[in-house]
Amino acid sequence: MTAAATTGGGTLTEAAFGKISALAKAEAGLVLPTTKLTMVQSRLRHRMSALGLPTYNDYVEFVTSQKGAEERRHMISALTTNVSHFFRENHHFEIFRDRALPLLMAKSRAGHPVRIWSAGCSSGQEPYSIAMTIQEAAPELAARDVLILASDIDPNILDKAEAGIYSEQQINGIPPEMRKKYLRPSGNGLQIDTGLKRMIRFRELNLLRDWPMRNKFDAIFCRNVVIYFDAPTQDTLWPRFENALAPEGWFFLGHSERVSDAAATRFTSVGMTAYRTKPGAEAPTTKVKEA
Ligand SMILES: C[S@@+](CC[C@H](N)C(=O)[O-])C[C@H]1O[C@@H](n2cnc3c(N)ncnc32)[C@H](O)[C@@H]1O
Repeated sequence: MTAAATTGGGTLTEAAFGKISALAKAEAGLVLPTTKLTMVQSRLRHRMSALGLPTYNDYVEFVTSQKGAEERRHMISALTTNVSHFFRENHHFEIFRDRALPLLMAKSRAGHPVRIWSAGCSSGQEPYSIAMTIQEAAPELAARDVLILASDIDPNILDKAEAGIYSEQQINGIPPEMRKKYLRPSGNGLQIDTGLKRMIRFRELNLLRDWPMRNKFDAIFCRNVVIYFDAPTQDTLWPRFENALAPEGWFFLGHSERVSDAAATRFTSVGMTAYRTKPGAEAPTTKVKEA
C-alpha cells in the first residue's frame, strides 16, 4: 500500500504519520507501524473536526507544539485500543479465586490490607470482574480492607469505567446469577451495583511515567496492554511490576504477552500467562522518565 490516504481532511502523508507515530511512542509507548496509517487517519479525523483544523499537517503541527499538551492526551485517547470483556481469559479469575484469594483472606484476617491493581483497565470490565470474584468467593474479604486500583492512560475510557454502564451484549461474559446480583437497569443499559464499586478506585495513570502508589500490591492484572509496546519498553516495565508486587504477589498478563526471558528468572510461572514473584526478591530499579 502507498502509505498515504486521502479524506475530507486532506491527506495523512507518510511523513505526517511518522510524526504521530513517534509522538504516540514517546507519550504512551504505543507502537504504530505504517500498516496502521488508515486506522490512525480515521481516528484522528474527529480530533481535527473538534479543533477546527482543516488538514492533517495542521493537526500534526498543533499536536507536536508546546500548545498541544492537552491535545496529546486526546490523541493518545483516540489511538488506544480499548477492547475488553467481563471475565476475559477466565483461567486468570479461576487462579485468583482458587489459589490467591484463600491466602489473601488469611492476610486480611491477620489485619493486613489487601491491594489489587488492574493496570490498563479500559472500560472497567477487568476491575469489576475482579470485584465480583472477591464478592462471590470471599465476601468476608470484600467487607474488610480490600481495594482495587483501576488505572488507564485514557481519561475518556476511565469515565466509562467509572460510570459502569454496559449493554446487554457487553455483559455476556458475566454468569447469569452474578448478573442478577451486580447489575441494575439504568437508561438503555445495565449499571454495576454501587456496593461492588466501593471496592474500586479509578485513576488516570501512564505506565511509562512515575507510579505514585507507595504500597505493594498483592495481585496485578496487566492484560492486553504491553502487547502495544515494543520489547525495550516492556523490558523497562517487568522490574517495575516486580517491585510494585508484594513477595509472592500474583501477576497476570494477556494471552499473547510473556515476561522476557531475563525477567522470567524473577517470576515463577503458575499457569498460562500467570506468575508469582519470588519470595523476598528485589528487582533492579530503572530510572523513570518524568511526565
Ligand atoms: C485492550 S485494553 C485492555 C483492557 C483490559 N486489561 C483487558 O484485558 O480486557 C488496553 C488498555 O491499555 C491502555 N493503555 C495503553 N497504553 C497505556 C499506557 N502507556 N499506560 C496506561 N494504560 C495504557 C489503553 O488505554 C487501553 O484501555
